[in-house]
Amino acid sequence: MIAKPKGTNDIYGLDAKKRKYVFEVIDAICEKYNYVYMETPIFESSELFHRSVGETSDIVTKETYDFKDRSDRNLTLRPEGTAGIIRSFIENKMYGNLTEPVKVYYNGPMFRYERPQSGRSRQFTQFGFELIGTDDVLSDAEAISLAYNTYRLLGLDVVVEINSLGDKESRDRYRKALIDYFSPNIDSLCEDCRDRLLKNPLRILDCKVDKDNGLMKNAPSTLDYLNEESKSRYEKLKEYLDLMDINYKENTKLVRGLDYYNHIVFEIISTSDKLPSKIALGGGGRYNGLVSELGGPETPGVGFAMGIERTLQVMDELEVNFDIKDNIDIYIMYGNDNEKDTACYLLQELRMNGFIAETDYMNKSFKNQFKSSDRYKAKYLIIMNDENLKDYKVCVKDNSTKEEEIVNINDLVDYFDMHI
Ligand code: HAM
Repeated sequence: MIAKPKGTNDIYGLDAKKRKYVFEVIDAICEKYNYVYMETPIFESSELFHRSVGETSDIVTKETYDFKDRSDRNLTLRPEGTAGIIRSFIENKMYGNLTEPVKVYYNGPMFRYERPQSGRSRQFTQFGFELIGTDDVLSDAEAISLAYNTYRLLGLDVVVEINSLGDKESRDRYRKALIDYFSPNIDSLCEDCRDRLLKNPLRILDCKVDKDNGLMKNAPSTLDYLNEESKSRYEKLKEYLDLMDINYKENTKLVRGLDYYNHIVFEIISTSDKLPSKIALGGGGRYNGLVSELGGPETPGVGFAMGIERTLQVMDELEVNFDIKDNIDIYIMYGNDNEKDTACYLLQELRMNGFIAETDYMNKSFKNQFKSSDRYKAKYLIIMNDENLKDYKVCVKDNSTKEEEIVNINDLVDYFDMHI
């Protein structure tokens, strides 16, 4: 037997139905917020992720699936969705005549070579959205609101952790403060953090190895290094979040694991104790320099991505109700070839009129067809016999009341329209 690769999952049965339900909720809410569905390739040039996610980020240094194709191109399975969307935004010149922001969302597999554990796999799925072309604080609030309300519609009570990294000037000042703070004690941190000190000191705060090191506790806070403009943006955002009644909490240590952020960053944190503590169900932020970094015109943007599997895991643990249809409308029963021909015709007719119809494909006895209809939880049965068929009629049985009625075949669609 050939087993699936480590860190991947087969999704089938009830789990697949639950996933589909989550995607339906996502489609519905994105429609309300006026976001349009979009797809980009699952693999991109490696350089795209080096320049966006960041050369020194954990994702790029340790977690990407890199390969060369048969023409020696350096390609990478996407570890996240934003870089591809922005690449496409630039390549397709979506920035031309930008009278309204571009609002897009996506769903799909992402790949990170991480140590598989609860809530962490090598192939996982993200629902993400991006709002590109405006710097207005109201668009930050919209991003947080869409993220937050998606979890709420899925039946989860969540808290949004927020922080501001400020603009480039604020971030540079903060960077310097971190170097000054960590330098004297850098030997007490892990090898990666020693490497990060000069290349990318913000990453130290995100280190999975040193997260409990006492040094982290008293590390400088981003908020003390925000300039006036960054500060007032952040204050305005909190006002908007209050107006929208969003449950948020400030976390001054939140820096996020990707390099492209400035100003607002946010994460939705699981409160479930069965997942590793503080594991994020989703995260996002503003990335005003990303479009120009990737070769497009200076264009601001903000976005978010949800980990679908983690979200489903928490929904299961909290026994959230999934609105999943697990029964069929009509089961058609037949006893001979003539009746089977009618079943063939009726299946087509009923399905094309919007009903979930099923029959027997295994030459079962009537008794076993009844059992099948119970397994399918059929609301109605169509039971044929030659006598009725001569008059172009069938017996329809309501499976809950057990009442039976003889109905003309031509009237069946109307009959079920009235009853189902
Ligand atoms: P991220 O925080 O790297 O952000 O990933 C978003 C979410 O994907 C995480 O919060 C988590 O739920 C899920 N996730 C990440 N890695 C794994 C894994 N190995 N296994 C299972 N789930 C995982 C981004 O990817 C940004 N592109 C979000 C964004 C969009 N920022 C702006 N726009």
